[in-house]
Amino acid sequence: MGVWTVSRYLHIHVLLPQRILTMTEKMMIPGPVPVQESVLRDMGSQVRAHYGTEWTAIYKKTVELLKLVFKTQGDVHILVGSGSSGLDAAIGSLTVSGEKIIVGTNGYFGERLRQISDGYGLEVIPVHGALGEPLNPTDFKEAISNHPDAAALALVHLETATTIVNPAAEIATEAKLKDIPVVLDAVSSLGGVPLSMDDWEIDICVSASQQCLGAPPGLAPVAISHRAWEIMNAKPQRNHGWYLNLQTWRHFADEWADWHPYPATMATNNVLALKTGLRSLLADGIDERIEHYTKLALQLREGVRRLGLQPFTPDNQLAPVVTAIYGPEDVPTGEIVQYLFEEHGIMISGGLGEGLRDRIFRVGHMGPMVSKDDIDAVLQGLSQFPQIQGLQ
Ligand SMILES: Cc1ncc(COP(=O)(O)O)c(C=O)c1O
Repeated sequence: MGVWTVSRYLHIHVLLPQRILTMTEKMMIPGPVPVQESVLRDMGSQVRAHYGTEWTAIYKKTVELLKLVFKTQGDVHILVGSGSSGLDAAIGSLTVSGEKIIVGTNGYFGERLRQISDGYGLEVIPVHGALGEPLNPTDFKEAISNHPDAAALALVHLETATTIVNPAAEIATEAKLKDIPVVLDAVSSLGGVPLSMDDWEIDICVSASQQCLGAPPGLAPVAISHRAWEIMNAKPQRNHGWYLNLQTWRHFADEWADWHPYPATMATNNVLALKTGLRSLLADGIDERIEHYTKLALQLREGVRRLGLQPFTPDNQLAPVVTAIYGPEDVPTGEIVQYLFEEHGIMISGGLGEGLRDRIFRVGHMGPMVSKDDIDAVLQGLSQFPQIQGLQ
């Protein structure tokens, strides 16, 4: 690798390096994550028919494993699309244009929920949280008492942009008091942050294959409560068209249950890979994985403090799977991201969203492959960045 000079990169404000990672380099962004060899083998296996008894049994097994991870007795459908497709399907399937939706917004992905809602012509009642602070259940209580007619309430569990874990269970409890269905974005949290869909009375919980589930991107598992189906059934005039209408998915799961339980061609290799990722997660244990991630988060926090840097959130608010760190004063954090990549072969992420872009950088420590040595490598790399060396 070439010699790092500050002047070479002074002009850099891009968040992501332009070069493609080689297999020997470390990807430590907050999703997607590197996957296990067994998962790669599934992705590389010969394409098979997406229907028939044998394949359908594999698909249904994958759904059963997902239910264990969501901790739900409800239904799970695996949409072919990224996490956002599942969020779009959840909000659009539950609501009718003109209805109100209460949306928690304390970061980039909360804003996305608002944009999806806007896209469906819903009246958004935003509940803001200060950047870097968890959403406050009391603010939701107030919004709900002012808008008891809201058709849904949506929030992000782990706001990946700020690394804030929102108190989803408490907020859902407030919504239940007024019988408002809750949509939870668990794209970055499922399998890496404690989450219990049925106990928390979440109505639609959405995740994605590429983060803590340890598979490549391409699938959006969506878990749906019995009550959510009742609400959808009671609203035949809902917003949705066909593909992202959850009722279409249910129709095929019922009507074609034995041979083709979804409306379109299933991404079979992705499902095989997801199944292997889920088996590995459940074999390790969800709690054990969370404990492992938490240790890595603490190791990273302790290490950056030794270097003279500060984590963005206090330790008692840590996210197990991703850590945001303030850069040194006057150093756009894009330069740190670029430096670690160019000089140490480690890909991390910059800040995401207004006010954070050049102030923080984020290190993902999620997925089955991440280890203590990876955190050491990040710390070692950071310690050699010129303006960080000056802090020590
Ligand atoms: C919390 C959260 N919500 C939604 C998304 C969007 O997911 P996708 O990019 O898979 O559509 C992400 C992506 O990282 C996320 O972290």
